[in-house]
Amino acid sequence: MFLTFEGIDFCGKSTQIDLLEKYLLNKNKKVLVIREPGGTEISEKIRRMLLDKENSKMFMETEFLLFSASRSQLVREKIQPYLEREFYVISDRFHDSSSAYQGYGRGISPDVISSINNLAIGKSVPDITFFIDIPVDVAEQRRQQSSIDNLDRIENSNEDFFYRVREGYLKLAEREKRFKVVNGTENVEVIHKIIINEIEKFEER
Ligand code: TYD
Repeated sequence: MFLTFEGIDFCGKSTQIDLLEKYLLNKNKKVLVIREPGGTEISEKIRRMLLDKENSKMFMETEFLLFSASRSQLVREKIQPYLEREFYVISDRFHDSSSAYQGYGRGISPDVISSINNLAIGKSVPDITFFIDIPVDVAEQRRQQSSIDNLDRIENSNEDFFYRVREGYLKLAEREKRFKVVNGTENVEVIHKIIINEIEKFEER
């Protein structure tokens, strides 16, 4: 199964991915966890370029193409081969992040996003995409409480940007059946159970 996790920064994706990985490993499943951008040697190099605060001159088109370049390498080098070996592949972000951040957030047209996304991912469409949804002001509070004072280039964007990104995700969720919207302000264990439930429902189909 191919599972992806999406949401605005500080939504709690990573915590849920850790819990899910442990849960599946406990059931003796084969699991591969990856994060985007990154996950291969080439993709990690692209990641550094994308998140480097020194690169403040980067245009949105460059940004989108770099995310897509990182992704197309990851799909062919890791995701596809592991899916063929019947792993559960869990990705912390995938092409929907580009639709939300570069499309709705930055303003690149949906047609362009969708055709380049399709080129990058090929036949690797996620089975389920968990969108961990939190309001932007909750994200802002969590950001202030976190010890991370070294935000990357994209996390440093202004609040309006994150409103557009969240709205974008909600629109994608309305359109795409594979999307499951999960209330990210719920308790961590409650969210974990919802996620497991959805996976089991999918497998029983
Ligand atoms: P990362 O540190 O991995 O953040 P997170 O833990 O929130 O996933 O940084 C990834 C950043 O890049 C994050 O702010 C979201 C952004 N991003 C895009 O703008 N477009 C994309 O296609 C992807 C994959 C990520």
